[in-house]
Amino acid sequence: MKGGRQLSIYPNERECIRLLENAGCSRRVMHHSCTVRAVAAAISERIPCNRDLVLAGAMLHDIGRSVDHSIMHAYEGYRILISLGLPEDLAETARKHTGAGLDQTDVEEFGLPPGDYIPATIEEKIVAHSDNLVSDTVLVKHTHSSEKLAARGHMRGSVRMEVLHRELSAEYGEDLDVLVDRLGTKPVLSGACAELR
Ligand SMILES: [Fe+2]
Repeated sequence: MKGGRQLSIYPNERECIRLLENAGCSRRVMHHSCTVRAVAAAISERIPCNRDLVLAGAMLHDIGRSVDHSIMHAYEGYRILISLGLPEDLAETARKHTGAGLDQTDVEEFGLPPGDYIPATIEEKIVAHSDNLVSDTVLVKHTHSSEKLAARGHMRGSVRMEVLHRELSAEYGEDLDVLVDRLGTKPVLSGACAELR
């Protein structure tokens, strides 16, 4: 391609950090988001997808935690990203990122605004599952997250996560739990994420 890489419609790593800061997210959320980005970057190396969308989605999935730490933060994130004029498909990655998504029974039980909360596109799935493979700022096997859901009585969510893990592992060509060993429990961050204090 002549003239190098085209400008992306999705915010880059540094722009995402600025968006999280401006929204009022804590450093902890920002470090978490950078770790989820590192996992999403590794997964998207081997699964065909819109990588700019995946990386921005990984960085911004928890932007709703600037206003709410309940399950509602996913919807709040969607709302914030739309209000910032960012692409709809990016905002959708935030709404659909909790676990392996929420079905209509969950949506009613949690009293969330009506809508589709199940990750359907490959980008939505990678963002959601990268988050499942990170606890705070530590890489974990998916069972850490699926067992946590089961222990809380969210059996359907736990099963959904297992199914998503198998689906993405098959696409990746290896069980994604291998990323804990490959990246380490605390992956080395680069770029704007490495400058975060
Ligand atoms: Fe989240």
